[in-house]
Amino acid sequence: MDCKYLHRCGSCALTISYNEQKKLKIAKIKELFGKFYSGEFEFFQSNETGFRSRAEFGIWHEDGDISYCMRGVNSQKLPIDSCQIVDLKISNLMPRLLNAIKDDEALVGRLFGVEFISSAKSLVATLLYHKDINQIYDNLARLQSRLEIGLIARSRGVKLEFGNVNIDEILMVNGRKFYYTMSDTAFIQPNRNMNEKMISWAVDGIMGGADLIELYCGHGNFTIPISFKFQKVLATEISKSSIDMALKNCKLNSVNNIKFARLSAAEIMSAMAKEREFERLRGVDLDSYKFSHILVDPPRAGCEDSVLKFMSGIDNIIYISCNPHTLRDNLNILSQTHKVVKFAIFDQFVHTNHIECGVILEKFN
Ligand SMILES: C[S@@+](CC[C@H](N)C(=O)[O-])C[C@H]1O[C@@H](n2cnc3c(N)ncnc32)[C@H](O)[C@@H]1O
Repeated sequence: MDCKYLHRCGSCALTISYNEQKKLKIAKIKELFGKFYSGEFEFFQSNETGFRSRAEFGIWHEDGDISYCMRGVNSQKLPIDSCQIVDLKISNLMPRLLNAIKDDEALVGRLFGVEFISSAKSLVATLLYHKDINQIYDNLARLQSRLEIGLIARSRGVKLEFGNVNIDEILMVNGRKFYYTMSDTAFIQPNRNMNEKMISWAVDGIMGGADLIELYCGHGNFTIPISFKFQKVLATEISKSSIDMALKNCKLNSVNNIKFARLSAAEIMSAMAKEREFERLRGVDLDSYKFSHILVDPPRAGCEDSVLKFMSGIDNIIYISCNPHTLRDNLNILSQTHKVVKFAIFDQFVHTNHIECGVILEKFN
């Protein structure tokens, strides 16, 4: 990547060639996981540029002018006018949006950040302010009609929306289209193309079985395409907006064998252990499920002890992880009951040291 900010921008901290990045990541994963798995570590390559469909920038104010900015390698702010890792829709919008904001002084004052989300059918920008945005309502409405994008403005405790701010996505999973609607406030995989590869890998990697339980399911990103391999699916997640979207996504894809419930991982574990009953599980007969598989895609902290204990009793595990270190800690426990049969590296976070992994485990006989 020949970005003019390379070596100065703190975002793309891994400045070696893509081939070297690939070798480095494979070596790191082999070193961390070699003791659990001697098979092939599949590496899923990303585009080197234009791969991020979600991005956040600061706003730099100087001499009455504004520009986008990133955290520099020396932790100081680095003004930028473009970014090569964001997708085409976002990179085309960036200068248009900035110029349109500059044309209206009221929109410039106390603007401190901009977030972008793009998907197959949507493009939404969120302006972040340190002031009462109700005072600039009309200015924001004019900005939206000039740019014809979904526009959100936020300040402490206030959110204003202009135009269509739904984030509507179409993902191709093994040649089949899946439809999603997503919330700007909840988790969204940042690299669309890699997300399609991850879901396809997970769907392909399992033979299917009786019933699936999924924790940390978000808006049903994996749940919906994988549900076709199972009789019934129980999927849980802590975020209310994600669960609201997951329910809509079932309808969009005409799927009717999934029960989504808003429960933290700890809550569903205590419900499964019959320690607590939850109103949010009303009408769900937990005893009717015969879980042959569990799918987890936890936050960076990995799975908590009660989840690991539960997983150790399930025959097949699909574990998606954005943190190899907590994944290794969790595999130290799971490897007492299960063997790793497939391991993939998904290069979601190109030009950074972050690595996303997928692991499939089977219970020892
Ligand atoms: C890495 S994201 C994965 C989401 C989803 N699998 C996807 O691909 O979009 C992790 C998810 O875990 C959820 N989460 C965080 N802490 C949780 C907890 N303690 N219990 C249940 N879900 C949690 C987050 O809201 C987020 O949706």
